[in-house]
Amino acid sequence: MGERLKDKVVFVTGAGSIGPGWGNGKAAAVQFAREGAKVFASDINADAVAEVADIIRGEGGTVESIVCDAANSASVEAAVNACMDAFGRIDVLHNNVGIIDPGGPEDLTEAQWDRLMNINVKSMYLTCRFILPIMAEQGGGSIINISSIASTHSLGYSCISYSASKGAVNAFTRDIALNYGRKGIRCNSILPGLMNTPLIHMGNVTDVYGSTEEMVRQRDALIPLGKMGDAFDVAHAAVFLASDEAKHITGIELVVDGGITLKVK
Ligand SMILES: NC(=O)c1ccc[n+]([C@@H]2O[C@H](COP(=O)([O-])OP(=O)(O)OC[C@H]3O[C@@H](n4cnc5c(N)ncnc54)[C@H](O)[C@@H]3O)[C@@H](O)[C@H]2O)c1
Repeated sequence: MGERLKDKVVFVTGAGSIGPGWGNGKAAAVQFAREGAKVFASDINADAVAEVADIIRGEGGTVESIVCDAANSASVEAAVNACMDAFGRIDVLHNNVGIIDPGGPEDLTEAQWDRLMNINVKSMYLTCRFILPIMAEQGGGSIINISSIASTHSLGYSCISYSASKGAVNAFTRDIALNYGRKGIRCNSILPGLMNTPLIHMGNVTDVYGSTEEMVRQRDALIPLGKMGDAFDVAHAAVFLASDEAKHITGIELVVDGGITLKVK
């Protein structure tokens, strides 16, 4: 067990994984615990959050978990209160939750647009709304928002709501960083590139490429470092930003992409 986050309380949204294997939030929750953090894991999926809590406990880590819809105000407020009841403080907020829904404005219904924006952007507003006062009272904290390289680059197919939502995450991050620095609160975003997580093996992403094999082949071929990253590449970046090693870093967009955004094609 490491000590880089010893005794820090970390609140994680979307701490499960959409399918078998390691999603970004699940890997981050486990890696936070491996570095000595007390993890408060939340997810809308009861089985998924129970699984990550079992993994952390099985490794001797400290965890509490809750079923929470990160896009619902009452649900987020209840989860924050439960975290405070369990651990008495919140040092790190890891805003991981996010969904993807490929398509352009003519493909997406208004309901699809609203759902994605609520989950990807409003969730961050809600967690910050309830957790910023706690961090300010404590004298500081670290907020990590999971964005995407889709916020700055095309994914090669239209994904307009996702790209727009992640652009909003970057702007949201800058605003918090600028306005809460004097309260000791840092806020950074991580921009994962093409990662090999269970999310991309679900229908709506594989459909874009035709098959899972073709998707993996095409995505690997695009990466200067030779293949897609995995959820732990994002988790390790999150541990750094959560830790005091990053105490002078705020407002950045930390790109974790194997170099793909360096090139045109
Ligand atoms: N996988 C990639 O290639 C990639 C690339 C860039 C960015 N990201 C971002 O990483 C984050 C996590 O992605 P992932 O691949 O681990 O996805 P994932 O779907 O495996 O994990 C997301 C988790 O969020 C939960 N969730 C969904 N809606 C929720 C809600 N309303 N309230 C609470 N929990 C909810 C799901 O149940 C799931 O457990 C997302 O923000 C995503 O946009 C992923």
